[in-house]
Amino acid sequence: MSNGPQMLPRNFRKLSAELRLQALRDTYDLSAEELQMLGYRGNLDLSEIMTESAVGFLALPMGIAVGIPVDEQLYDVPLAVEEPSVIAAATYGARILRGAGGMHTWASDPVMTTQVYLSDCEDGAVERLRAAESQVIAEISPVLAAMQQRGGGYRGMDVELLQDLSVVRVQIDIDVRDAMGANLLNSTAEQAVPLLEKLSGGRKVFAILSNAAPKRLAGAEFHAPLSRLRRGKLVGRALAERIVLASRIAECDPMRAVTHNKGIMNGISSLANATGNDTRGLEAAVHAYAARLGSYGSLTSYRIEAGPHGEDVLHGRLEAPLVFGVVGGAVGIHPGARAALKVLRRPGAMQLARIAAAVGLAQNFAALGALVSEGIQAGHMRLHATRLAYIAGARGELIEPVAARLSAGGVYNIETAAGLLQDIAGVHQSDTTESAHKTEV
Ligand code: MEV
Repeated sequence: MSNGPQMLPRNFRKLSAELRLQALRDTYDLSAEELQMLGYRGNLDLSEIMTESAVGFLALPMGIAVGIPVDEQLYDVPLAVEEPSVIAAATYGARILRGAGGMHTWASDPVMTTQVYLSDCEDGAVERLRAAESQVIAEISPVLAAMQQRGGGYRGMDVELLQDLSVVRVQIDIDVRDAMGANLLNSTAEQAVPLLEKLSGGRKVFAILSNAAPKRLAGAEFHAPLSRLRRGKLVGRALAERIVLASRIAECDPMRAVTHNKGIMNGISSLANATGNDTRGLEAAVHAYAARLGSYGSLTSYRIEAGPHGEDVLHGRLEAPLVFGVVGGAVGIHPGARAALKVLRRPGAMQLARIAAAVGLAQNFAALGALVSEGIQAGHMRLHATRLAYIAGARGELIEPVAARLSAGGVYNIETAAGLLQDIAGVHQSDTTESAHKTEV
């Protein structure tokens, strides 16, 4: 192979964390600031046990969506995400819903499915496997013993022939209680393989959990009296009707449903980030669920209904497989994730899934409200202005005035931000010199 650009050494993984950072700096010309952000002291060890070839952390900003109403209680919900409008939207949605009866949530038992696929099976394998459930339970019971003591464990088995492939699929359902469950599910599947091979006369293709989780559902809903709804110039029924139409469009048109659901996941994935949960597994499950009816659709629905007190209400509803754990994986290891769970008052996995459903619904309600009224760009650009101010060099108390004048002017680019910064910093400088002078006098 030709001598291309300079690369990290082949033994990078085996270097000490310190040397890895040096190699990274020298190979890719990283600045002191960039290095410091990655490898700040004390956290290198932690990154080392969380990932291979670690060089530190890429920290996401974490904020708190304050006062999310979930079943008669308010939660301050930590969300870790790079997009500035996410917490603003969740908090806005929650504020309206707090004054309109709050959100009611639910969660099914945390039942996940693990799978073994078998090829080259003998005739009658499916029937033999189905008849051997008690043998399978006995075989996997050592792996599940601790989980059973915690109230979880085996919940059922299913055997199917995948006709087109002549492959037999064995699925085992397990209640994983407070865990996300991946390790337990994979261990269970692997433990079952020798017996399943013996019973079927076949050969394992692979044994692994399914991330689909169609049985681990959580949901949230609200019934907001129409008189409580207002967004810009749209008030009451007029706003509710536009939200219903927006949600019907997402139900019917996959091109829109993807964006609609992305907005929902803004909140849910950020909560997963904050609590150290597996965002990829969660998102794979959610999007598969959104396509369960054969075409990709919306995770939420909105209808106008007769309310219990004579006034019509906007009924918003979200349901999805929300795979959240509160023990195991990164959850127990990362102190930031532990702190997030403390802020949430140490929920169990089912409660965390319910909070996630409420955050997703509040997020979606806020997004639809903004979209059908003033649009989202005005709010987004206000937040974008603070970033531009920062990129242009503003720090500390200079960020806000630069951002405010950028927003007022409506021209969003770094050059404009830099010009404003110069103006404001000049004034600021003379103000501080003047006040210092006054103090001296
Ligand atoms: C942006 O991150 C999310 C939205 O696009 C969601 C939506 O369109 O429903 C605003």
